[in-house]
Amino acid sequence: MSLSFEEAVAKARTFFRELGAPFVGRQEESMVITLSLICGEHAVLIGEPGTAKSAMVRRAANLLNARFFKYLLTKYTEPSELFGPLDIRALRKGVYARVTRGKLPEAEIAFLDEIFNASSAILNTLLSLMMERVIYDGYLELRTQLWSLFGASNKVPEEPELEALYDRFLLRTHVKPLDQDYWAELLEASWRIETGVLGEVKPVLSMEDLVAINSFALKVNLENVKSSLLKLLLILEEKGLHVTDRRKGKILKVIAAHALLNGRSVATEDDLIVLKYTVPKSLEDFERIQVILLEELRTRERVLKELNEIRTNVRTAAAKIKQLGPFDPRLTDYYKNLKIAKNKVLSLIKDFDDDEEVVKIANEIVSEIDDLLDVITAKLNV
Ligand SMILES: Nc1ncnc2c1ncn2[C@@H]1O[C@H](COP(=O)(O)OP(=O)(O)OP(=O)(O)O)[C@@H](O)[C@H]1O
Ligand SMILES: [Mg+2]
Repeated sequence: MSLSFEEAVAKARTFFRELGAPFVGRQEESMVITLSLICGEHAVLIGEPGTAKSAMVRRAANLLNARFFKYLLTKYTEPSELFGPLDIRALRKGVYARVTRGKLPEAEIAFLDEIFNASSAILNTLLSLMMERVIYDGYLELRTQLWSLFGASNKVPEEPELEALYDRFLLRTHVKPLDQDYWAELLEASWRIETGVLGEVKPVLSMEDLVAINSFALKVNLENVKSSLLKLLLILEEKGLHVTDRRKGKILKVIAAHALLNGRSVATEDDLIVLKYTVPKSLEDFERIQVILLEELRTRERVLKELNEIRTNVRTAAAKIKQLGPFDPRLTDYYKNLKIAKNKVLSLIKDFDDDEEVVKIANEIVSEIDDLLDVITAKLNV
């Protein structure tokens, strides 16, 4: 059964919503995991202990009907623990083989906790597995069905030998502990989790669905965003946020996945927000990119922020206008400025006409402005 575009979008959204549902404040992480699955790419979650990194990846696996392999790496983990023990019977016949049942070579989705503990033997195998989906092992060349590999770690790797592994995670997110404002909610959520909410998960997505969703994502029209992406990459490079060549092109996939998740078959500048998950390398980068994107992109957050500023200005003006007597010359200035503000609101929401919240706020402001314009007209025509 193949999905229609709308069904693909609906399935991807359901997965995204369900993934984050039991957790407090983990929308970004749910987004990163969902986008990597849509792209068939790998993601790494970096954050201090106890921030629900493992819990989120486990939930993602439970929501997927897929062959899943998970393992916690230590410095002493042997290749056979991940790739399967050597097949002794085969070896006796002079054949080098591994018993891969239930191990990483057979997984569609994998989770390697503390991934940067990987020893050099494991590291080399992981590099080709992640890039080419092939395991080179002695004389063996094993083609695998790996779709996405998730990693978790308490820190960004600093060792040069881990650089190549880190680079293979197209998506990265810094999982931060929750702000105090969320602690009450956290207690409730943890309690629900402790008492078994996570245990009763039903899959909402199959590998077949993922393949279909992925092929829709690969058909998303990216023509409108390529030049903006280029411009942004140049700005970022100038500010010291370097993106390796491998990642530059791959970012387009994530942009396409974001468009799909938002129900669009054409990417817009809004989708460039995914640079937040694909550009940062160091922990400081995660903070810096937010600021840069907010400045450079007309993102939803930015539009909401500007709308709120306009609303505050309109309300300040309303208070002043009430105090002015009829025929006050300042009324004409207010009239002009309110007209400008109204046009600004209308132009701000141009790309957001299917966003209910943005449209609602904009309509409220416009009607406040219209009321004020009436008040001014009345005062000028007494
Ligand atoms: N944001 C959150 N919302 C709900 N529960 C949370 C949240 N953060 C942590 N918890 C609770 O804390 C538990 C611990 O999380 P988990 O073991 O996944 O952390 P971790 O980030 O993998 O830690 P480590 O780095 O030590 O492996 C979760 O199973 C959950 O019960
Ligand atoms: Mg963990």
